[in-house]
Amino acid sequence: MSSEQGATTTLRQADEDVLGPTGRPLTEFPEPPALASHGPARIVAMVNQKGGVGKTTSTINLGAALAELGRKVLLVDFDPQGALSAGLGTNPHELDLTVYNVLMDRKTDIREAIQPTEVENIDLLPANIDLSAAEVQLVNEVAREQVLAHALRKVEDDYDIILIDCQPSLGLLTVNALTAAHGVIIPLICEFFALRAVALLVETIEKVQDRLNPRLQIDGVLATMYDPRTLHSREVIGRLLEAFGDKVFETVIKRTIKFADATVAAEPITSYAGNHAGATAYRQLAKELISRGGAP
Ligand SMILES: Nc1ncnc2c1ncn2[C@@H]1O[C@H](COP(=O)(O)OP(=O)(O)OP(=O)(O)O)[C@@H](O)[C@H]1O
Ligand SMILES: [Mg+2]
Repeated sequence: MSSEQGATTTLRQADEDVLGPTGRPLTEFPEPPALASHGPARIVAMVNQKGGVGKTTSTINLGAALAELGRKVLLVDFDPQGALSAGLGTNPHELDLTVYNVLMDRKTDIREAIQPTEVENIDLLPANIDLSAAEVQLVNEVAREQVLAHALRKVEDDYDIILIDCQPSLGLLTVNALTAAHGVIIPLICEFFALRAVALLVETIEKVQDRLNPRLQIDGVLATMYDPRTLHSREVIGRLLEAFGDKVFETVIKRTIKFADATVAAEPITSYAGNHAGATAYRQLAKELISRGGAP
């Protein structure tokens, strides 16, 4: 690298340290006070019908960062691929009861399906491939959009926050998650083609607000896999700000291989590499979410 290039990079980096990738001055989010008591939970769905944008990674790591702050967290795996369950060390083939049983059999007690995890303050409602049948089977159910909401009501008082990791689709399972939720976080990869999916997603959220769940709100749009070296990433954030304004989280998740490493280790990055910038980013996101009222 020539010294000139080096200087440019340093300058840009310096700008970014003061302003942050969203161009706004970086806020020091306050350390949230400890909770005196727990529950009832705020329910947040992590949704984007585009695959591979960081929904599962954000569910695990935001959940872990909130757990570090003493919040009691339930993570709901709502994807038949079971990536969230695997990412927390569960073997999907060895599960007796999953979210599928909770949805399809009213006699299944949700508490029997929920498991503790290795991470303090985090419980998991796991999923495996069985869940792929639910989409079809639910179609004939009474109040088919409200089945998850109904199931979660039983444990709402046990947790401060429930994060639902959705599958990459806007089908009936995702509509169930949106119907159960108070808020939606939209993880969005910093690439231009990713912006196109958002219009349809927002339309779906608005329909659910109108017809099924008036309390639903968009808590924030989370830019993921941001690469500060590319103009492209910056431009995408510019476009996001135009479209969503203050709804875009100030916290931006940079692209780093450490997330994949943490997945292999079946741990959140906050414990796998607690000092890594990726862990810091999700801790900041947790504080930002709390400061916006998106979590207690
Ligand atoms: N900030 C990041 N930097 C680099 N890689 C990342 C980052 N976040 C996630 N990844 C990796 O990208 C891949 C997709 O991430 P993830 O599984 O979280 O996305 P997803 O939206 O849940 O995908 P799907 O729609 O298939 O459920 C994973 O291999 C993950 O380890
Ligand atoms: Mg996923």
